[in-house]
Parts: sequence; structure tokens; C-alpha cells
Amino acid sequence: MGGNLFGALLLGCGVGRAVRPAPCVPHEVPWRSTCAWRYTHLFERHEGFSLLAAGESCQQRRASVSLGLRCRGSAQLQAETRRRKASVNAHLLGNMLPSWPARADGARNVYIDLGANAIYKSYPLQAGGEQWERTGSVGWFLSTYPNASLFDVIAFEPNLAHRESHARVSNAVRVARLEYHAAAVGVRNDTAFLVSRDKSHDLSHQWGSRLGPSRSFGKSLSVPMIDFVEFLNRHIRPSDFVTVKMDVENGEWELLPSMLLPGGNVTLIDELFFECHHRETPSIVSAHGYTDCLHMMRELMRAGVWVHEWF
Ligand SMILES: *[C@@H]1O[C@H](CO)[C@@H](O)[C@H](O)[C@H]1NC(C)=O
Ligand SMILES: *[C@@H]1O[C@H](CO)[C@@H](O)[C@H](O)[C@H]1NC(C)=O
Ligand SMILES: *[C@@H]1O[C@H](CO)[C@@H](O)[C@H](O)[C@H]1NC(C)=O
Repeated sequence: MGGNLFGALLLGCGVGRAVRPAPCVPHEVPWRSTCAWRYTHLFERHEGFSLLAAGESCQQRRASVSLGLRCRGSAQLQAETRRRKASVNAHLLGNMLPSWPARADGARNVYIDLGANAIYKSYPLQAGGEQWERTGSVGWFLSTYPNASLFDVIAFEPNLAHRESHARVSNAVRVARLEYHAAAVGVRNDTAFLVSRDKSHDLSHQWGSRLGPSRSFGKSLSVPMIDFVEFLNRHIRPSDFVTVKMDVENGEWELLPSMLLPGGNVTLIDELFFECHHRETPSIVSAHGYTDCLHMMRELMRAGVWVHEWF
């Protein structure tokens, strides 16, 4: 059902437009191809994109009131969030591959987490000491994605507080083949600012509620920002199977359009989970609305990336 809706939306936007395909290197194995059409044969199996930004829980203060969804009680909204997450989990590209990427010829499976937040979480034990568990989106990937153990994990997280746990976590919990970058990603090497609107926040412990170009308001913390396209171009090859989760606090509005330009390397990414920050969400400041999100998701699909909304 979702697939049909998505297909209809996609066609609706494409009809009548003479699209000249960008130059690309085709390959019978889709993730090795750099062509925009490489995943079109799977479109009817996509979960589709929600027309309402439904499902954000009241607890997260993310009910999209102006899109028609009222925060009527968190149980209902949590159920909707669970339903949407389950739908995404059922439509992972890794479940649809005709064969599994082989590492034999040097190609890798790579999971890149942009805005990884905490990777480990500790619980105090009654007997004293503490117990560590994997958490956050890296934890989600490792427990959910098919054959996740065959992936290299590259995590970007500018908040240094989250890095400290790496030093303390036990080997039993530590993620194998994890490369950690204490940096934000963007369209150039630069300095970015983790900004909190809540002046009482201790920035060393909370995650940035917003990534801004300057110390515009509230408390802020300067963090290094690296050019993500350059990073991809240096570290990833078209033969690699690459899944990216992107939660970059509004940075997506600059980064994703730049990747869709010629030479933007967008087809180095096979599958993208991205959190779209839009103004209908009460706690989020954004120049963009949810319809812009839908447009962006469809543009990315059309460019050859298998896209899911992350929320
Ligand atoms: C995981 O990889 C194995 C080969 O190592 C493959 O046989 C299997 O189908 C893969 N699992 C999934 C869910 O694709
Ligand atoms: C950007 O930073 C990366 C990582 O520090 C570095 O390898 C790269 O050379 C820099 N690129 C430019 C254009 O300065
Ligand atoms: C990535 O971008 C660079 C610079 O535009 C280009 O030379 C390279 O061919 C691109 N790679 C892919 C796989 O698109």
C-alpha cells in the first residue's frame, strides 16, 4: 500500500519532465552501480513516505499539531511511532539484496552514523559497579540490520561527552570495527557550534539541540566540522555497500542538496535514514516545512538512494 502511494507520488512529479540521465557507471549488482535507476526495480517494495509527520511522541515534544495530528495522549502516539519504525525495519535494503555483498574482493559493507549520540549506556549494578549496553542508533543498527556483524561502523558525534564512554566500556560490549570521529559533518571543513536553546543545559552532557553556523543564541560549544562529501570520496568506493543514518540538526538542508549536484557523490550511499528537521515540529527551528522533507526524500530516491525517514 505504502509502495503504491510512493510510486504514485514519484510518477506524479516525474511525468512530463524530460529527464536526461546523469553519466554513470552501470553494474549488474545494484550497489556497485552509480546510476540513478539502480534501485527503481525495488520501488514498489518501498514503505512509502508518510504524508503526515505523524508518530512523533509527546514525550519527545514532537507532535506535529499543525499537520493535523494532535497530541492526544502519548500511548497512541507511541504506538504510531512503533508502527512506523517497524515499517522501516521491514523495508531495509539489506533484506532485498539479490546476493549479499562479499568482502572477498576488498569491497566493504559500511554503516556510517552521522550524529551517533551515545553508543554505550551504563547501568549501576546492585552489587556495585556498572553494566554497559550498546544504545542509540548504532545499537539499533547492530541489533536490527541484516548481517550487521559484517559491517564496518563509522560514527560521527561532535559531543565529546559521548566519547568518554569508549574508554570505560568493556571489550564484551565494545563495537567491533568501530571508527569514531569526534566531529560534526557538513559541506566543508570548518567549525560548527552545538547550540542549546535551554540555557540551563550543561552542554557537556546533553546532545546539541541544534547545529548552527554561529553562537547565535543560548549556550554553544564549538566543534570541528568535516567535509562529508570529501570524506566519502576518500574512504568509500562504489563497490562498497553503504548505509548512512543522518541526524545532523538542520545540517541536512545544506548537505543533501550539495550531494545531489553533479559530482556530489550521492550514489556512494546506497541506503539513507535521515531525520528531516522541519518547522511543524514545535521544538525545532527550521526554515523548511514537511513538504520540503517529502520533496527531498523523493529527489534522493530518484537519484538512486534507498531512503527512509528517521524519527
Ligand atoms: C548474511 O550473510 C550470509 C552469508 O554470509 C548469507 O547467506 C545470508 O543470506 C545473509 N543474511 C541476510 C539476511 O541476508
Ligand atoms: C578536511 O579535513 C580532513 C580531516 O581532517 C582532511 O583529511 C582533509 O585534507 C581536509 N580537506 C581540506 C580541503 O582541507
Ligand atoms: C565523487 O566526486 C568526485 C569529485 O567531484 C569525482 O571525481 C568522483 O568521480 C565522484 N565519485 C563518485 C563515485 O561519484
